[in-house]
Amino acid sequence: MAGTLPRTERLSADSAGLARAGALLAAGGLVAFPTETVYGLGADARNGRAVARIFAAKGRPAFNPLIVHVPGLEEARELAHFNDAALALARAFWPGPLTLVLPIRKGAGLSPLVSAGLDSVAIRVPGLALARDLLARAGGPVAAPSANPSGRISPTCADHVLAGLEGRIDAVLDGGPAPVGLESTIIGFDPHPVLLRPGGLAVEEVTRVLGAPPEAHQGGVNAPGQLGSHYAPAAPMRLNVQVPRPGERLLGFGPVSGPVEAVLNLSPTGNLEEAAANLFGHLHRLDRAGDAPIAVSPIPEAGLGRAINDRLRRAAAPRGSGAPAVG
Ligand code: TXA
Ligand code: MG
Repeated sequence: MAGTLPRTERLSADSAGLARAGALLAAGGLVAFPTETVYGLGADARNGRAVARIFAAKGRPAFNPLIVHVPGLEEARELAHFNDAALALARAFWPGPLTLVLPIRKGAGLSPLVSAGLDSVAIRVPGLALARDLLARAGGPVAAPSANPSGRISPTCADHVLAGLEGRIDAVLDGGPAPVGLESTIIGFDPHPVLLRPGGLAVEEVTRVLGAPPEAHQGGVNAPGQLGSHYAPAAPMRLNVQVPRPGERLLGFGPVSGPVEAVLNLSPTGNLEEAAANLFGHLHRLDRAGDAPIAVSPIPEAGLGRAINDRLRRAAAPRGSGAPAVG
């Protein structure tokens, strides 16, 4: 299965499609699959050659660690040591858009490429039942970064996956649009809980279960997807714009007034869940539609708004800023 593949199968979300996707994963293939957050590019996490193909297909410039996906907490505990806070979070939010970074258990059997040689591993149990069905059929842990070429916007539907990776992966399981639309929230432990990436689970929810907010991430390169330009459309972007300039396309949020109608609106009613679900799809559409600059309406820095603003700041960052774009 080495080298460029002649074509990518589009599999339907039925038992035949699931069986095919599971068999491809078990045989060391690369299968993109839906989760509630974004589509992931999956490979058997115990098979080093299969995992290496993920990096090649994405053009990921370095071996950055990947998230391991399992069907349940029981399988997760076979791979990593859970502290009390991690267990409380897993019980509250799994299956769901939360990733925990924990010490790898000896004998877990994961390829060292998955964790980039670190002694910790990022794990999650996806909220979408279709994803858990596939994981159960794969018969083992599945490593999966977002299914986009490195540095591009994360895919929230099968068409996005094919637009970026057609011919470079074996198959995509088409489960329709990803309902959350933002990557998972990542929490690590130092040993106190640390927010490594805001995402599809609001930090306020994490705080409610922990009884205190997670610490802010202090620099370092623990979550390299955190740094610099990322999730980038080709067009320049300006954020927190009340009134767009002539020639700019407006990505709106909430009721938009002024000289220009919103070209696309993340949520005309100002609903953050709806905006999160629309974010990457709208960025993909603006990216495909041309290279005129994009102006984005202000979005409140609360709940899922934090993760939305995080992704927008990355999309607007000067290209090549910070660490090389990854993810
Ligand atoms: O929602 C999601 O999380 C999606 C879906 C497919 O599950 N996956 C995803 O994966 O966003 P990716 O590779 O695009 O982002 C994974 C992030 C990266 O920023 C990586 O650096 C961080 O997780 N990460 C992985 N393992 C880590 C570890 N051992 N320590 C610290 N950060 C880690
Ligand atoms: Mg990514």
